[in-house]
Amino acid sequence: MTTASIDELFAHNQEWAARMERDRPGFFTGLLAQQKPRYMWIGCSDSRVPANQITGLEPGEVFVHRNIANVVVPTDLNCLSTIQYAVDQLKVEHLMVVGHYGCGGVLAALQDARIGLADNWIRHVKDVRDKHSELLEGLDLQWRHDALCELNAIEQVLNIAHSTVMQDAWARGQKVQLHGWCYSLTNGLITNLHMTVPDVAGLEEAHRQAVAEVASRVRK
Ligand code: CO
Repeated sequence: MTTASIDELFAHNQEWAARMERDRPGFFTGLLAQQKPRYMWIGCSDSRVPANQITGLEPGEVFVHRNIANVVVPTDLNCLSTIQYAVDQLKVEHLMVVGHYGCGGVLAALQDARIGLADNWIRHVKDVRDKHSELLEGLDLQWRHDALCELNAIEQVLNIAHSTVMQDAWARGQKVQLHGWCYSLTNGLITNLHMTVPDVAGLEEAHRQAVAEVASRVRK
């Protein structure tokens, strides 16, 4: 792994900007006029899970919000205003919560580990753990950790679906789909958790099925 210095970051930036302009003249000025992303990504702050690189999306193509353990709390003005802007103003068509296997925040929730101020934030992941205690019970730690990473993404999709932003958008007939995914640090692949919610009517069934799939994966 390279450890770049600050000077190198500026050098890389200048090289990148020059390369982009050379290969695709007008790339930057084209983006100046407006951003019109089709996607919003809510992911973990973990440096190993960069939204654009993983999905091959370019500047201008994905609106991003990240926090520790990709949690969506209805009282979090930061996250909620980002979602509201994406849905109401940018009119994104897909909104995905992307957890990742091996998430340190999720592991801390699982083990009741103290890591600092984030303990209070991770309380929300513990709520997910407690909600699904029956499913998680009796699994060895690796499986329990994987399953909670998946369940956490699924439950955060549920939280978005219950937000006034999404309820209002769906009520006025706006087409916005929610998705729950989980990214593997081991092989770079995204697992679709099939928590795919096209509208308010599809919510409960999608949630039931997605949780059942988690259960069937861990019981293999
Ligand atoms: Co994480």
